[in-house]
Amino acid sequence: MTGLLSGARTAANPLRQLTIDQLRQRTSLKWREHPDDVLPLWVAEMDVPLAEPVALAITDAVARGDTGYTAGTAYPQALAEFARRRWGWDGLVVERTALVPDVMHGVVEALRLVTEPGDAVVVNCPVYPPFYESVAHADRRIVEAPLGEDLRIDLGTLEEAFRRARAGGRPAAYLLCSPHNPTGVVHTAAELTAVADLAERHGVRVVADEIHAPVVAGGARFVPYLSVPGAENGLSLMSASKGWNLSGLRGGLLVAGPAAAGDLARVPFGVSVSTSHLGVIAHTAAFRDGGEWLDSLLTGLDDNRRLLADLLAEHLPAVRYQPGQGTYLAWLDCRALGLGDDPATVFLDSARVALNSGLAFGTGGDGHVRLNLATAPELITEAVRRMAGVVG
Ligand SMILES: Cc1ncc(COP(=O)(O)O)c(C=O)c1O
Repeated sequence: MTGLLSGARTAANPLRQLTIDQLRQRTSLKWREHPDDVLPLWVAEMDVPLAEPVALAITDAVARGDTGYTAGTAYPQALAEFARRRWGWDGLVVERTALVPDVMHGVVEALRLVTEPGDAVVVNCPVYPPFYESVAHADRRIVEAPLGEDLRIDLGTLEEAFRRARAGGRPAAYLLCSPHNPTGVVHTAAELTAVADLAERHGVRVVADEIHAPVVAGGARFVPYLSVPGAENGLSLMSASKGWNLSGLRGGLLVAGPAAAGDLARVPFGVSVSTSHLGVIAHTAAFRDGGEWLDSLLTGLDDNRRLLADLLAEHLPAVRYQPGQGTYLAWLDCRALGLGDDPATVFLDSARVALNSGLAFGTGGDGHVRLNLATAPELITEAVRRMAGVVG
């Protein structure tokens, strides 16, 4: 284990620049939750050094003592330009954005803007577990619309969920995850247009969590929800935190479509001012100057997706993996392994590999695990070797 990654320093690919000994010195959740004999491929942190433009911006700010309350529009401006360059979308209007402390706080605020306590929030399970906690915390209730067998949004199921959510004529929201965590599916323009149409017909307000938007493979296209026809009264949450591994430098943006500007105006001042100024500086630098670094990361992630698929085919052929084109997460269907509803527990106890248990992701998560691909290829190889050893 200690030999893993020693000397692995391929230039450019940020996933190949840190040794396991360096990673084990980190004090963040991914590397501190488990003892040192466990390979941590779970929570959505990446095993990368900080992108240079971000590191420079932060160290400059620290040198200036620039650690007061946050101000200005540099962050939404940088995101608007990134959106234009990357996604060909020029509809992100700085005046229709609000700083939020992080994406999940932003999700809660957005739900508060468009629904009342007790109202329904539709989610496509299996989905990012904090969606459940945050909806409950906001005093709203979940209505599940399970993904189809192909792991894509099933429009018939979604429509049925919208009907249930709107029963009695109450307001309702749809918390869309785009790209989808944990499957990595990148929704197409046609899918999102159909979603907007359905939401409009049923009077459901869409809140799109687009935190993974920058992490989409070169061959695929991320489509911002607010860019599709019919999405004018939608709200979106964006952030640099997944693309550049900035969870420790918190920050996010709530973005409103033209017909949701009035809602946005009701975001309490205290919410935006609670956003970390250092976080805003880091996120701004990432969107403004971090494109080259991001491209290297995306190439490395493509390689890792292929590597994982090959390794599973060779060593764990009973595991089903449909690689998505977005996120750095892999959703593994382990039901054929005979390890029960919670294979993550077996992999942790017996293989010393930490993965996310599918059970937390709602209906459809049993028998599944989520594996974090944002690490060195050597660690993915070692993890699959260990996992295969348990299955025998
Ligand atoms: C879909 C999704 N939303 C939100 C978050 C968390 O965002 P934040 O840390 O900005 O609250 C994550 C983290 O992995 C995520 O995957």
